[in-house]
Order: sequence, then structure tokens, then C-alpha cells
Amino acid sequence: MHMDRHTILLKKRTESQLGGGEERIASQHSKGKLTARERLHFLLDEGSFQEIGAFVTHRSTQFGLERQKFLGDGVITGYGTINQRLVYVFSQDFTVFGGSLSEAHAEKICKIMDLALQNGAPVIGLNDSGGARIQEGVVSLAGYADIFYRNTRASGVVPQISAIMGPCAGGAVYSPAITDFVCMVEQTSYMFVTGPNVVKTVTHENVTSEELGGSSAHAVKSGVTHLTAPNEMDCLQKLRQLLGYMPQNCEEKAPGKPYDMGQEQRPGLNHLVPNNANQPYDMREVIDGCLDTESFMEIHKDYAENIVVGFGRLAGRSIGVVANQPAYLAGVLDNNASMKGARFVRFCDAFNIPLLVFEDVPGFLPGTDQEWNGIIKNGAKLLYAFCEATVPRITVITRKAYGGAYDVMNSKHIGADLNFAWPTAEIAVMGAKGAAEIIFRAEIKNASDPAAKLAELEAAYNEEFAHPYKAAERGYIDEVILPEETREKLIRGFAMLENKVDSLPRKKHGNIPL
Ligand code: HXC
Repeated sequence: MHMDRHTILLKKRTESQLGGGEERIASQHSKGKLTARERLHFLLDEGSFQEIGAFVTHRSTQFGLERQKFLGDGVITGYGTINQRLVYVFSQDFTVFGGSLSEAHAEKICKIMDLALQNGAPVIGLNDSGGARIQEGVVSLAGYADIFYRNTRASGVVPQISAIMGPCAGGAVYSPAITDFVCMVEQTSYMFVTGPNVVKTVTHENVTSEELGGSSAHAVKSGVTHLTAPNEMDCLQKLRQLLGYMPQNCEEKAPGKPYDMGQEQRPGLNHLVPNNANQPYDMREVIDGCLDTESFMEIHKDYAENIVVGFGRLAGRSIGVVANQPAYLAGVLDNNASMKGARFVRFCDAFNIPLLVFEDVPGFLPGTDQEWNGIIKNGAKLLYAFCEATVPRITVITRKAYGGAYDVMNSKHIGADLNFAWPTAEIAVMGAKGAAEIIFRAEIKNASDPAAKLAELEAAYNEEFAHPYKAAERGYIDEVILPEETREKLIRGFAMLENKVDSLPRKKHGNIPL
């Protein structure tokens, strides 16, 4: 008798969680979307998924819901492995009440988050939901709050990653926003706090869902998403790759790959920096030239392009890279670049991933836009993030290291362990022209040929300061190295720092200038 009941429930479960039969599966596929279960199939190692809470249903008794119950209640939860490492997962099923979040649906997500926290393994959420289940009222709001609370408690303890694979609206966006990384699928996903209809009513703006909260808006303008993917399969693949750079939790180190030292000189790096200090070059070439082949995974690629951040491998070791990008706005630090860099530095520090900084920065971007939008507090975020980081930290100055930006970009003074400079490095309070105009103002004004005098004094200032040797004299730079030696120096440096132990003064938590 009991076995019969079990068999019927299992059949129902399979139908329900594949989307309740052929019709519902087809409705997902016709939108270019996979079903919730297919997504898990492609995300996890084959056959590794173990489901928890498959028989859960909602407890609503109003608006006809009492007659409509689907096993699992619109979300599949459980655990499995990615490259043989444990992960906890949830995958929302849009074909069941639009993937909307009921009390029971939220409880299922909370259960796997609790397990993840207790057992020290990452949580991956595949989001595809119309938000709070409208028929349930406040209990669904409570369910969201229960999730936000757990997201925050787990922050910095276990990695949390969100994929957005459909709608994500209203307060629902705040769970992904608290997680460490967000990946949006192009064209089929969107995130906003208030949708186009409310926007039209309140601000009279006409905007589509895609314009307001599609992947491009969040990749380029808001920076809410760290990654985008042209389709769901690519998105799931990116999540697998991303996880490979991370440890399971804050007590562990990221997994390394075996590596035998060989010929580590990279002569191709010698000619990347142009002779003319005002000419751009692509810092990604420096990064690729130093890291293991094709190991760099860029994060926030289309947001604040004047700074490049991402994960890579150096002799198999997982590292976080932060680099000024002279090919975009001359690599200047502005509001968005500072926030982007700070968030990445803090993630790496929280999860014991060493930091590698490539520096070519003319300073902070001047202007009312920057000042009024908080370059003081935002620049301070990046400064603060580096100052508090206790992971191994190495900096390579390739060219400019001017002004406050010199201090901020992982200088020795704020806790970097090893600082290298290429012979092309210019380390000074400011560029030679600006400096000469200020300190020799009278001399230039009184000269018979002020322009010639300025050029002469500029050259003199350059000669005196625009090189790395004054800083090296002080020990602010540990070694001036040839570009071709960089990779080897970095491999040896990070190996030397492998067992670094450092801790912050005892405190409840710091007060980063948010
Ligand atoms: C209950 C929902 C639902 C919801 C969708 N459905 N959203 N049921 N609660 N929130 C149901 C629909 O009734 C429909 O059921 C099925 O899911 C598919 O929805 P469609 O509208 O047909 O799909 P589509 O045209 O693709 O549009 C998707 C959508 C739209 C844009 C997401 O459904 C929508 O606007 N939903 C409401 C969004 C919303 O306002 N949510 C509350 C946000 S406030 P049938 O039976 O017809 O198939 C919020 C607060 C959280 O989330 C606060 C946390 C702090």
C-alpha cells in the first residue's frame, strides 16, 4: 500500500519537476530556456545530484491554490558535485506558478543554505522567478527575508553564486545582489527593483524590460552582474569554471593544479610598454603574458573598463588579478573602477586567494561628476579593501604610479608583500608637466621663452623622479625587474608567501566607507 503511494508520488514528482509534462517543458524550450532540472543536469557532474525536499508542496488555501499543487513547489533543491567538489544548489522552475516564491519554496532554499553553511561548501542559485507568490502575501515576503538573512550570514564563509535565467524582479533581486557573483543570460533574463510599468507611472520614462534590467544594462551600466552568457549552457559552464578558482569555504585554500617549473622567461613582455608615456597599451597582454596559458577569467569585463579584475592561475596556483587598464581612460581610477576593484579584492581576501596587482595609473579622475558622485568615499573603498587584505599580495608597476593612486594600488605601505617595478616605471607625486608648472611657476613666468623653460624643467623633473630607482632606494620597491622576468619572479614570490600568516586587530567588524 505504502509502496504504491510512493510510486505514484515519484511519477508525479518527475512530471512536476520537469515542468509538469511535455507542454510545460515545451514552454520553457520555446523561450530558449532549459527546464529547472535540465539546468541542474548540465551544471553538476553527471549523476551527482541528490534532491532534498522533492515532495514539498505549498500550504496556501486561498485564490484556488488549494486545488493546484505541484510537488517541489517550483524549486528543485539539493546537492551534488562540480569537478568532484560538493556544492549546494537550488533551481527555480518557472513553469510552476512562474517560479514564484512561496513560504514552502523559501523553506527549501533556506534548508540547503543552512546545510551549506554548516558543511562549508558553496551555494549556487539558478534564479527564474516572478518574485513573491502573490497569493501568499506576507509569508512569501518573510520567505525572502529568511533567504536574505542567510545570504548575509553566509557571506565570506562559503562562496555564493547566482545565475539569472529568467525574470528576477522586486525585492527578489536582493538575494543575488548579496551573493558573491552574478551571471546573467543574455536576452532571456532581467533584474529590476521596479519594472517598466511602474517606471512609466512614476517617472514617465518609456523603457523595455531588456533596456531597464537586461544583461547588457547590468554588465555595462550598473555593474550588478559580473558575467554574462549568450545562452544557458554557456552560463552553466561559466559557473563551473568560476568555482574552480575558489576554495570550498573561508577556512580552506583554493585548489591548485600540478605544475613543473620550466622556461618561465617571457621576452614578449619586453616590448609591450610604448616609449611614449602617453600611448596606451592593453594590460590584458601583460596579464596573459604572466599567467598560465589561457587561465585568465575576467570578471566585470564590460563595467569600469579602466580597471581589469579576474581570476587566473600562476604555476597552477589560483590568484586574483587587479590591473589598471591604460587602454581605457588611460587607466585612471574613477568611482566605478574603485568600487569594482574593492569588491573583488574583498572577495579574494575573504577566501584566501592571493592578490596580484599590475599598476599603470595616472591618478584619480578629476571633475565635478567624480567629486559629486563620491570619488572620495569610493576611492577610499579600494584603499580600505587593500589595507585590510591579509592574503599574499604582490604588485608589479609597469609604468605610471602617480599620486594617491600609487598608495592605493597595493603599495608596500598598505601591506603588500612584494613590489616589483619594470624599468619603465614612473613613481612620483604627479606627472612632470603638472609638477613643473606648480613648483617652477615663477621661474617659467619670468623666462624669456616660458614654453621652452617649461619643457626644460619638465625634462629635469622627469629625470629626477620619473623612474623606479628613488622608490627602490627606499625599499618601497623590492626589485626593479625586466618585463621578461616577471612571470618567474611572481611564481617564486607567491611560492615564498604560501604560508603567510597575518591577521587584523580584534574587532567586531570594520567600517568600510560604503
Ligand atoms: C504567483 C505568478 C507570479 C507571482 C507569475 N506567476 N508571477 N504567480 N505569484 N509573483 C504565474 C502567472 O500567473 C502565470 O500563471 C505563470 O506564473 C506564468 O506567468 P506569465 O505572466 O504568464 O509569464 P510571462 O508572460 O513570461 O511573465 C513573467 C512575469 C509576470 C513578467 C514575471 O508573470 C509578472 O509580472 N509576474 C508578477 C511579477 C511581480 O510583480 N512579482 C511580485 C514582485 S514583488 P498561469 O497559471 O497563468 O500559467 C516581490 C517582493 C519581494 O517579489 C520582496 C522581497 C523583499
